[in-house]
Amino acid sequence: MERTFAIIKPDAVERGLAGKILSRIEEAGFTIRAMRKQHLTKVEAEGFYAVHAERPFFGELTTFMSSGPCVLLALEAPNAINKWRDTMGVTDPAKAAPGTMRKDFGESIGRNATHGSDAPETAAFALGYFFRGMDLI
Ligand code: CMP
Repeated sequence: MERTFAIIKPDAVERGLAGKILSRIEEAGFTIRAMRKQHLTKVEAEGFYAVHAERPFFGELTTFMSSGPCVLLALEAPNAINKWRDTMGVTDPAKAAPGTMRKDFGESIGRNATHGSDAPETAAFALGYFFRGMDLI
């Protein structure tokens, strides 16, 4: 078993898609170990995305991620990190495969509906950033 960290981003929450996305997460075979709806502050979003601090889109990304509530998730499954990345599809919804979350629910590379950790190190960082051990049930 492996755990990964996922976000249903503000664009998807705002459009009332959180329930649909959660249902697809469960249908795909993930167990939701922790879940919290939260409106991140700009500083919290900057801390989470610190790895992208030098990218030209960092300001836009962190402004968007703090623009409204999102849903923070700890997901568990065999091979959860890669499985969730496959379920989401690639970053740009226009290039994502049919049937993926980002293809079905994303609007643009920034407003792309979901986030997922890309490696064990980033999953461990993100799970620890957003959840306490006793939240993971
Ligand atoms: P995410 O998986 O949350 O990780 C970093 C995010 O940066 C990514 O999804 C995109 O939503 C966003 N991103 C990547 N490239 C760009 C870009 N060129 N312009 C705006 N946002 C971007």
